[in-house]
Amino acid sequence: MAQLKRLAAERAAEFIQPGMVVGLGSGSTAAFVVHRLAALRAEGKLTDVVGVPTSVETEALARSLGIPLTTLEEHPVVDLTIDGADEVDPQLRLIKGGGGALLREKIVAQASRREIIVVDAGKLSPRLGTRWPVPVEVLPFGWCSQALYLEGLGARVTRREGRDGTPARTDQGNLILDCAFGPIEDPEALAARLEARAGIMAHGLFIGLTSELVVASPEGVEHRLPE
Ligand code: A5P
Repeated sequence: MAQLKRLAAERAAEFIQPGMVVGLGSGSTAAFVVHRLAALRAEGKLTDVVGVPTSVETEALARSLGIPLTTLEEHPVVDLTIDGADEVDPQLRLIKGGGGALLREKIVAQASRREIIVVDAGKLSPRLGTRWPVPVEVLPFGWCSQALYLEGLGARVTRREGRDGTPARTDQGNLILDCAFGPIEDPEALAARLEARAGIMAHGLFIGLTSELVVASPEGVEHRLPE
């Protein structure tokens, strides 16, 4: 699987052009893109590219590899972002946030002219929610009320925990509630319900944000556009 993630990531990295402001996604597939960018820079290519990291973890990785970074304050418009996903449906709607970086990933995606999603074929799904819960980032204040609200929408809700058993915190210090809805009939309607609730800071449904998908399977790497 790691090999497929790497293949998809390296294909997507071919779309990075000199001088671009590039959104650097989070997670293991996006990390392959960061490594590829660093390797290209070591060859003297793309040396004027600057990155906008979508998480503290990606920022640390990019810094360790010597990739110059910028912020949305300096560059409010990103030319191209390459990011991973947990689940992708045929319309290229996504569930993201398995790594907890959903809020910054969505902010950067919405600031991007072009968002390329890189996955292995195991992430493809006939209907969102079939394979993965929807991560919902909530403010710690009142989080139990949000859990009840989410259960009322039909989810089985689990508060995400770190390896030490304490509640996982996002880069913003918020909590993540993983919401198992099962196959979601109307992702747009669910997204609207989630966005209507104070205390819900972000959710992992990414709708209308994918401009292209690069998917690697044992048969090869495919580049798809939304239908
Ligand atoms: C990070 O918060 C996520 O949105 C990742 O993009 C997603 O979980 C994919 O991760 P992998 O590339 O590690 O499978």
